[in-house]
This record gives sequence, C-alpha cells and structure tokens, in this order.
Amino acid sequence: MVVQLGTLYGISVGPGDPELITLKGLRILKKVPVVAFPAGSHGKPGISQSIVGHWLQKYQIQLPLNFPYVQDRVTLRRAWQQAAEEVWQYLDLGQDVAFVCEGDISFYSTFTYLAQTLEQLHPQSLVQRIPGVCSPLATASACGEPLTVRSDRLAVLPALYNIEELETILDWADVVVLMKVSSVYPQIWKVLQQRQLLENAVVVERATLPEQIIYADLRDRPTLKLPYFSLIIVKVTPSI
Ligand SMILES: C[S@@+](CC[C@H](N)C(=O)[O-])C[C@H]1O[C@@H](n2cnc3c(N)ncnc32)[C@H](O)[C@@H]1O
Repeated sequence: MVVQLGTLYGISVGPGDPELITLKGLRILKKVPVVAFPAGSHGKPGISQSIVGHWLQKYQIQLPLNFPYVQDRVTLRRAWQQAAEEVWQYLDLGQDVAFVCEGDISFYSTFTYLAQTLEQLHPQSLVQRIPGVCSPLATASACGEPLTVRSDRLAVLPALYNIEELETILDWADVVVLMKVSSVYPQIWKVLQQRQLLENAVVVERATLPEQIIYADLRDRPTLKLPYFSLIIVKVTPSI
C-alpha cells in the first residue's frame, strides 16, 4: 500500500498576541497531528510555541527543533538537515506537520531554511506557506501610526553589521525599520542624534504582548537595555 505523503505547513503565528494568527493558520494548526517549532533556549519554551500554546490540543505531538544562534555555515547546515529529517519522519508516514513561526514565515524566518533543506533532501515533499502579521506592521499598529503613507520609501534593516550601512539607508528612505537592535542600540542612537532624528524614532519591545513597551522620542535615552524582540521605526521624512 502506498502511503500519501503528509504536508509541511509553515504557519505564521504573528508577533505575540495569539489572536493575530489568521483563520486559515488556526484551522490548519488545530487539525495537524504534529506541531513543530524552534526550540526555546535555557529550557524555556520558544516564542512561537508560547504564542500558540493556547490553541494546541492534548493529542498533538509537539516537536521542538534545534536552530542554533550561530553564524557558522557548517553548524547551521547540519542543524537544518537534522530538523528537516525529524520533520520528514512524520511526513513520510503520511502525517501533516505544522511549523509555527513567530511573525510571518517569509520575513526573516527559520521556516525558509527548514523548507529549503527539506525540499533538497526530499524533493517529493509537499510544502504550503500560510502568511501572517510581521513585526514591523504590528509595531506600527501598536504605536497607533501607519508605517508608510503616500509614496514613502520603506527600508528594512534585518541586522546592522556596520554603522555606515545605516547612514546610507537614512539618505535614501523615508521610513526605516531596524530589527535585531538590542546589541547595537547605542551606535544607532548616536547616528540618529547627529541627524536630529531622535524625536522621530520609536522603539518597541515585544509588540502586541502583555509586556509590550513603547519608547517614543529617544532624545533622553542614549542607552536602553532591550530584549531580542525589539525594533526601531524611524520616520526620516514625516509625511503627516
Ligand atoms: C528573526 S527576526 C523574525 C521576524 C519575524 N518573522 C517577523 O515576521 O516579524 C527577529 C526580529 O524581529 C523583530 N521582532 C519580531 N517580533 C517582534 C515583536 N513582537 N516586537 C518587536 N520586535 C519584534 C525583532 O527585531 C527581532 O530581533
């Protein structure tokens, strides 16, 4: 008897508030036998696991997958392959797997590496992507402001590796989103100060979660101890 392969669903679960998952994502999440997610660190649950915790059923298998926070390509590749093989074990038995991902699965997400590796190792794999709410959009709503209007040029910097990069972007864009800012905040602050943009910048920690904090107007905040889940929006040319 030929068993039909299971499908790997990449489900975007949004930036924190469990109600920001889409109806489609929730429907699929509730029906799959296996729910996978990036494992948390130091024994804590991962962020996406916590976001969907409320929706999971007792009979669903929970599959934490290890994605190390390192730059080394060989280590990363090995981890992606192992994660893909763990998922494949279920797909090969005909069981669907939902990989839940914080924010949107196509926006700087681990899901991309998992899906690409799975498709390389097992080209017959079936993969479906369910979009959702990404952090810059959720952050703009949390601040009660649009992210962009009219013909604003939007730039997103997923991480800042040298400060010149920021200077170049500020010359070009009307609105800049800076992600993964916790370790480089003081350098960013100095550049924004030189350009007199501190008033037009906002930092948001853990947008849409109960612990959300918004720092609007950064003039008196040259240092901030920020968590990993924080980002900055800079309105370079305020248009309204
Ligand atoms: C690897 S990226 C993941 C992005 C995610 N897939 C999305 O759609 O937003 C992680 C970065 O996204 C930003 N981020 C994600 N969720 C956030 C939240 N709830 N509040 C503030 N920043 C968030 C932070 O800058 C964090 O360092």
